[in-house]
Parts: sequence; C-alpha cells; structure tokens
Amino acid sequence: MKYIRVPALSTVLTVLCLLAGLLVGTPVWAASPIQDKYQALGGPAGNLGAVIGGEKCGLAGGGCYQDYQRGQIHWTPATGARATWGAVGALWQQQGWEQGRLGYAVTDEVCGLVGSGCYQSFQGGQIYWSPASGAQQTLWGAIRNRWAAGGFESGPLGYPVAAEGCGLRAGGCYQAFQGGQVHWAPGIGAYATGGSIDYVWGTLGWENGRLGYPLTEEVCGAAGCTQNFQGGTLTWHPSTGVTVTYYQPGEYQRVINKRNPLSPIDYAPSDMVNVGGHPLRYQAALGFWQFADAANASGVPMTVISGFRSYATQATLYNSYVAMYGQERADTISARPGFSEHQSGLAVDIGNPGGACGLQDCFAQTAAGKFAANRAHEFGFIIRYPAGISYWTGYAYEPWHLRYVGKDIAMDMHRRGIATLEQYYGYPPAPSY
Ligand code: DAL
Ligand code: ZN
Repeated sequence: MKYIRVPALSTVLTVLCLLAGLLVGTPVWAASPIQDKYQALGGPAGNLGAVIGGEKCGLAGGGCYQDYQRGQIHWTPATGARATWGAVGALWQQQGWEQGRLGYAVTDEVCGLVGSGCYQSFQGGQIYWSPASGAQQTLWGAIRNRWAAGGFESGPLGYPVAAEGCGLRAGGCYQAFQGGQVHWAPGIGAYATGGSIDYVWGTLGWENGRLGYPLTEEVCGAAGCTQNFQGGTLTWHPSTGVTVTYYQPGEYQRVINKRNPLSPIDYAPSDMVNVGGHPLRYQAALGFWQFADAANASGVPMTVISGFRSYATQATLYNSYVAMYGQERADTISARPGFSEHQSGLAVDIGNPGGACGLQDCFAQTAAGKFAANRAHEFGFIIRYPAGISYWTGYAYEPWHLRYVGKDIAMDMHRRGIATLEQYYGYPPAPSY
C-alpha cells in the first residue's frame, strides 16, 4: 500500500534532515542561495538592511529575487545570487532590471577603484560609479574594449560620463568619458579622441563633417601629435595649436555648386562622347554604360534625358524657369549658367523609356529610379541632390540627376553613409543668394 509507505519514508527523511541540521548547526533545507547571500553580506546589519516581503520567483531564466530596505538580491541558476544597491542598483533598475540590456548581475559590486570608484558586472555589460562621474553603464563591445585597452578608469579616458549612444552616421556608436570619447563605426573600428584634437574635430562637425570618423589613434612624437580621419588629418603642435589638412577632391570629384562655379565660367570639356544622344565626358560615359547594362540585365531599361549642357544652354534653361516660377523658386530647381554640374559633362539625368515620372519626385518610385538609388554607386555615380538635404545642396530632390565621381569615391560615400559631396569634402551649405 504505497500511499501509506510514502509518508513513512518522508518522515524518516525529515528526521534525518533534522539530525543533519543539528550536526552542522544550521537547518540546511531552510536556506536558499538568496538567503545565504544575505547572511554573507551581514544580514540586517549589512548594506542591504532589513528584509521586505518574501522571496519571489518566476523571473527570466528561472530567476528569483528578494527586496531589502536598501537593495535587492537576484539569483538565477546561471549567475548565482548577486546583490545590488546604491547608485549602481538604481541605474540597473532604470535600465529595466534583468529585462534591460544589462541582464542579471554576474558579480557583486566591487569597490576600491581609482577616485573611490566601484563597478559591477552584468551579463550585458558593466556599471561603473565614481563620485565625480556618477553611475554609467558600459556595454560589452568594441567601445568598451578600446576603453579597456587604455587601462579602463585608470587610463587617460577615465570613467564613462554617459552611456553608449548609437544611431550615428553609417551605423556608428560612441561613448563619452572623462578624458575624451570613443567612436566606433562598422568597418572602421573604435578609436579614442581627446584634448585639442577632439575639440577641433567637434568644431568641424564630428563624424558628420568633412573629416568623418577617426581611422587611427592620436600618435605623438617630436613633431607634435597627429590623428588620421577619413577625410584628412588633425595635427597638434604646442606652438601652432591644431592644424587641419583635408584630402583634396580629384578631377572627377570636383564640387560644383552655388558657391563653386565652373572655371572658366563658360568651360566645356574636350573629351566628350555620345551617350544616348547626349554628350558626357569619357570616364563618366564608361561608368554610365556599365550602369545601364546592369540595369538592362535586371530588366530595367533607361533613357538619357540630359547630359552635358553648355553655358548658353543652361542660361536659356535657367531663364525659362525664372519666367515660369520666379527667380526664388527657379534657384531651387535649376543652376545658374556656369554653376551647373551638367556643364562639367559629369552629370546625367535619367528617365524611364515610357517617360513615367520624368524629372519628378515620383521618379524615385519607378523601376529606373529604384535601380539608380540602389546601385548607382557601384558604377561611380551618386544621386547628387538627395531628399531632405536641400539646405546643403541648395537644390530640391532630384532622384534622376546622377553625378559621376568615380567608383572609389561613390562606394566610399555609400559605405560611410555620406549623402552629399559637400559633406564628403567639407564644403559649407549652399547660400540662399
Ligand atoms: N537641375 C540641376 C540643379 C542643374 O540645373 O544643374
Ligand atoms: Zn540634372
């Protein structure tokens, strides 16, 4: 009769447990890892203070927790029992406890760092606290590794003063520290900037300016300190301060805009060939033929609406827009003679064979418009007047206007998420006239 024998067995076990408890001095079945931890931290007299309520389970990963007057203990089979309290605990709470990016604590708080600091490690990163910097999180990853490589809080960067922030150009992230910043972007890596070089980089627009992201650390020697960026270098010397050297655009990358006319003003290229009935400079034509071939192969035929336009043609065109819309509006859709990329022989306006959405915003949604937006960079072209950045280019959105800049630069702009030649080479936004 099993149902009689089972209680009997249980009674025997209970007695054994009681005996065992008497032998080791504590009732072994009563303690949980959380209670053990609480006792180890001094119980009610320790940092946590008195118990509040009971132990609760059912958290992610089979976790349990217990609240105390001044903190908590969380336990999971994977992380063990870890106590949190004070500013570090408060930040962890703000981040959403174990459900936030940090996950569960994997150590207790460790203090005695430089400047009276403390830290605690979590599954997703760490929280550092010091009286000067407050509690800040660092996430496991390239930025934190760069900080670690410099000696953590004891190195030149000191403690973090903000959390890691992302959403920068081309998918970049950064974190500010007491002694500078670390920037990371995909395909580039994480580099620190500090001091005068960091300051000047900031005045030039950080990663959004012509310099882009840092590509090296600052290197110092007898001639001062230098740091390389995507678009040039910054050099610091005690006698001269910080000097900026930009990489210069080549012949095919030349910036032609409202501030930078052709030179001479009635310039006409001498190396043009016929592309779909319109002249283009030879290098641009080579790129365009490859682009159009690839489009055709994908079932997207294209037409050329305009290529090279002489000074005189541009003058006629501009005047007709002024007559139609008035000068202010004309200046947002047409360059003045001598200021059009079309006069350089490096710009081409494309269309769909049926003429769908010709020279209109909706061209972007047509087959040819989509192909251009997705693939033009592979063939050395950029959409020169993108949507939403007219204040910089000076012109309304033109999804049909492609500018040849060469494959290297077009691909680099695409990879770095730099929309305009002005931003790529550090030219100021367009004037309003
Ligand atoms: N439509 C462009 C801005 C030009 O006239 O060159
Ligand atoms: Zn055009």
